[in-house]
Amino acid sequence: MCDDLDGYFETALSLVKIAGNLISEHVGGCKSYEVKECDIDLVTVVDKKVEATLIEGISKKYPTHKFIGEESVADGQRCVLTDEPTWIIDPVDGTMNFVHGFPHSCISIGLLVNKESVIGIVYNPMLQQLFTAQKGKGAFLNGQQIHVSQIKELRKALIASEAGTSRDEERRNVLLKNIEMIVTKAHGLRFLGSAALNMSMVALGGADANFEFGIHAWDIAAGDIIVREAGGVVIDPAGGPFDILSRRVLCASTPELAHELSKSLAQFYPERD
Ligand code: IPD
Ligand code: CA
Ligand code: CA
Ligand code: CA
Repeated sequence: MCDDLDGYFETALSLVKIAGNLISEHVGGCKSYEVKECDIDLVTVVDKKVEATLIEGISKKYPTHKFIGEESVADGQRCVLTDEPTWIIDPVDGTMNFVHGFPHSCISIGLLVNKESVIGIVYNPMLQQLFTAQKGKGAFLNGQQIHVSQIKELRKALIASEAGTSRDEERRNVLLKNIEMIVTKAHGLRFLGSAALNMSMVALGGADANFEFGIHAWDIAAGDIIVREAGGVVIDPAGGPFDILSRRVLCASTPELAHELSKSLAQFYPERD
């Protein structure tokens, strides 16, 4: 299926490290930004440069590979995923954090072949955290193998989620209902400000589950394989199979916790294009 998975991985990893320097130059924040769809949907020159560095570098070595990158997808354009090797790239996941200097932002890059995740890399250059996974080879933080927790019950679980980067009222209301449920039932709730880092925390065992509605494929492509290679599960928040294009995700350390959280979610945000 994959001719040269190790070669793809090493190529992407070296480019991610180079591009990471563009982010870590901005300790303390990046005060110059543009707004996209609304006043809390931000983009900086660094987001665009990181994405260009990754796409140019990979295309040079693998000219037939396809890309879905957050800053290259035109507004309103639907993401189309084929069976071809496709790199799904979020150049800066956690742009709001990056702008403010809250040091939890990362480059998130996943490779899918035949629509199946085979590589995931999540790199936070500010804190030197490199999460990696290749299909069948386990998940790692800075080269050390990581595993999800063994938590099975919501009442003992630390949950990660997000408030999103839109002013969509429906999305906000769904989130508020679910926050109420989590703070009533679980050990606690954490918002890191990056979907990819939240998922990586589940892979590390630092959080036990994560759910989010309204995210995109580039937010979760790398996190998906990193969580699964760490022994966790990734499902649709309503309990069915995960669909990377559905704009919703729930991941957890154990199937028991995934299904209890899914059943407990007070409200769902519909699938969106
Ligand atoms: C955002 C972050 C945030 C999530 C949003 C994403 P961005 O990505 O992952 O945690 O809640 O839905 O859009 O815009 O910083 O790449
Ligand atoms: Ca964004
Ligand atoms: Ca993102
Ligand atoms: Ca981004």
